[in-house]
Amino acid sequence: MGMEFFATTVQGIEDIAGEEVETLLGCRATPDVGKVFFTADLDAAYHLNLRARTLHKVMIQLCRSDFEGLEDIYRAAKGIDYAWIIGGDQAFAVRSERVGVHDFTSVDVSRVVGQAIIDAYREETGRRLKVDLDAPDVEVHCLVRGGELLMGVNTTGRSLHRRGYRVYEHPAALKPTIASAMLRIGGWRGPEALIDPMCGGATIPIEAALQARGVAPNLTREDFALLNLKLFDEEKLEEARERCRDRERSDALEIHAMEKFRRHLEGGMRNAEKAGVLDAIQFKLGDATRRGHYPHSSLDLVVVNPPYGVRMTPPESLGRLYAGFLGALRKAAEGAVLVLITAAVRRFREAAEKAEVSILSERRVLHGDLPARVFKCRI
Ligand SMILES: C[S@@+](CC[C@H](N)C(=O)[O-])C[C@H]1O[C@@H](n2cnc3c(N)ncnc32)[C@H](O)[C@@H]1O
Repeated sequence: MGMEFFATTVQGIEDIAGEEVETLLGCRATPDVGKVFFTADLDAAYHLNLRARTLHKVMIQLCRSDFEGLEDIYRAAKGIDYAWIIGGDQAFAVRSERVGVHDFTSVDVSRVVGQAIIDAYREETGRRLKVDLDAPDVEVHCLVRGGELLMGVNTTGRSLHRRGYRVYEHPAALKPTIASAMLRIGGWRGPEALIDPMCGGATIPIEAALQARGVAPNLTREDFALLNLKLFDEEKLEEARERCRDRERSDALEIHAMEKFRRHLEGGMRNAEKAGVLDAIQFKLGDATRRGHYPHSSLDLVVVNPPYGVRMTPPESLGRLYAGFLGALRKAAEGAVLVLITAAVRRFREAAEKAEVSILSERRVLHGDLPARVFKCRI
């Protein structure tokens, strides 16, 4: 029998995250809002933390139950055995998130659950656990959504979307987990010719290269939270790292990355170098609205995160940019699949209709706090 886990992800890509868990672990996964549930053995935590491209945090599930008030939350948290996870000399913190209408705050949840953990641990072991909100050894997460309480222990630490290769921070960077999901939506496997014509810090091309070469995105990360948990050991993590290295390939790839501004292009190249995939990506300074700036070879897949008009481009010029971009694509990549994320949904639809680019599917995705959509189109 396995253990129960859940992993958090971006809202809107839970089905893709679930498929990834199923592929990596060979188990069934059930998507839920912003997360995925699954049952697996303990080793799953090593593999997912190193290899998952669309997950944020991997948690060992401690409880999932219905409640009516804070007293129920205290009772549920108090009924859990913590001694198998937390050492008596370790410090812990409770992090809570609350969605829905309640007569208490997330701070109240953290306080009540924190007390329940201290009380339960003292009853089990006679020891009083320390609390450290800034640098805890163990983080317990509580998600309160409507009348449901979900508790888990974080095996990841800071989110997996914070990849180690981001040495250049683009001001409107895309989460690598969303970039990975977009590549999956586009059916990217590696042999296709791919372009991101507005690449910024090159998140999409880098994720594409890592994926096609079978490189685990968090292979070199050292600070996984699981190393602080009694259940896990460093040697097993190293073994899992070795197995990841065995899966790496050095296939030749055709990935193009174009960007209008030199500063971003050079930043993207630095990121690609740090990720170890600079040789896999052909970078070019160029304008995505100019047909002549695209490669002359044929393109199969375009995956792009254009400006939304929120942080960078003024809204009035956004329509022109989208129209010019799709017009150029119609000539440079006719028949290719386009996967695009934008929060400027109406402007994109108008431009697609005008350029006769057909929208095959779309989905809502939460990009940070911004409700965005990922469109899949035929050019
Ligand atoms: C939202 S950002 C892309 C961020 C990128 N996905 C990342 O994660 O770093 C959009 C980028 O498109 C670039 N851009 C805007 N207009 C362009 C054009 N006509 N041709 C090429 N790039 C353009 C901007 O300079 C910006 O870097």
